[in-house]
Amino acid sequence: MTDDLLPGCRLIPLAVRGDERGSLVAIEGMSDIPFAIARVYYVYATVTGVTRGLHAHRALHQLAVAVSGSCTMLLDDGAQRMTVRLDDPAVGLTLPPMVWHEMSDFSADCVLMVLADAAYDEADYIRDYGEFLALAKA
Ligand code: TYD
Repeated sequence: MTDDLLPGCRLIPLAVRGDERGSLVAIEGMSDIPFAIARVYYVYATVTGVTRGLHAHRALHQLAVAVSGSCTMLLDDGAQRMTVRLDDPAVGLTLPPMVWHEMSDFSADCVLMVLADAAYDEADYIRDYGEFLALAKA
């Protein structure tokens, strides 16, 4: 395990089952990652120059993996802001609640897979940065 990038944001190495045929990564909830997986979604064919995300979650835990290509993830907990390049299908980034995140600089071949611990719920989103900052500082 690496040190946290921000509190709760960690790059987790994923075990690669490689052999002469190639590579395979398996991710099991509550063992390989610290939550049970309720949902998987992925972002691909992202148009050049687009920034996605631009929100935080109130309660959702997620893990993001660039299973192909690369993109940049901006992380902001209201106190610190940093970016991390996701470019390795064997590394996952944990995204805890109350971290504002933005994804940009997608390579043309980027497939960003996200595992989440709950079903989609728009009420869990904080899409206004001012509201996020007020809640983060409270
Ligand atoms: P959006 O939250 O804008 O994506 P991003 O944060 O990556 O920029 O989601 C795009 C659309 O997809 C929006 O209409 C909501 C929908 N959606 C679901 O239906 N289920 C999901 O699990 C996710 C993540 C999004």
